[in-house]
Amino acid sequence: MASNKDPSESDALVALQWLNAMGADEVTLDAPVERFVEPPPVSEATPILNKSPTAPRPAPVGPMQIAPSEGAKDAIESAGAAKNIMDLKIAVENFEGCALKFTATNTVFADGNDEAEVMLIGEAPGVDEDRLGLPFVGASGQLLDKMLATIGLSRAENVYISNILFWRPPGNRSPTTAEIAACMPFVQRHIELVKPKVLVFLGGTAAKTMLDTTDGIMRLRGRWFNYDAEGLETSIPALPILHPAFLLRQPAQKQEAWRDLLTLKSKLLDEI
Ligand code: URA
Repeated sequence: MASNKDPSESDALVALQWLNAMGADEVTLDAPVERFVEPPPVSEATPILNKSPTAPRPAPVGPMQIAPSEGAKDAIESAGAAKNIMDLKIAVENFEGCALKFTATNTVFADGNDEAEVMLIGEAPGVDEDRLGLPFVGASGQLLDKMLATIGLSRAENVYISNILFWRPPGNRSPTTAEIAACMPFVQRHIELVKPKVLVFLGGTAAKTMLDTTDGIMRLRGRWFNYDAEGLETSIPALPILHPAFLLRQPAQKQEAWRDLLTLKSKLLDEI
């Protein structure tokens, strides 16, 4: 049916939606920040926020101004205190040491079966994940689900998925070193609590961060590494693979992704 809208009005609407998706609204926040008052101590900060997917975005408060070193200390303490995955989720939702939290709509913690033997770690939530509060629910998540299904894996049954960042970087920009460092104690504790038999790192940023290497994803993908951390009894085999968002942009690389999925499948047949 033909629309009665003035074409210039609908063009303007599309442009506005695009700008919002790119994060243009995120330079401003819901409430002004008073930068001249002493921030309250982190422990007395905002009470536990209702983080249901429809909850309003929290207004920025003092702890947003804490120094990165304070944030890192706080992250190590609160991640270490988490005795189970629910504790950890609450600790992440209450954490105020990563400024991304204040521009995000939701905290994106994890999805899937937390008793799964396969744990996937991606990079950061995008616009759809931020809206729904779940990882990999947009176009790349749909491709990821299809890829996993080809080797008998699904988040409903035997896969658990999270990211190295729990909040969307505005405009989907790459995460900064400080943002990654702030979230890393929670990511490490997450792995310790899930204790997967196998880890899969999706894309270069996750793989380089988790393996602490500067090698690019094209060198890392399809090869097994040992992921070690202090809190783990034994190291966990880890496989970097190409990120589904990259495969959407470069479909010719799906051949390599298919090879990597077969590598994962044969490991699962041996290990599990
Ligand atoms: N890309 C990621 O790395 N993680 C998500 O959750 C979504 C897209």
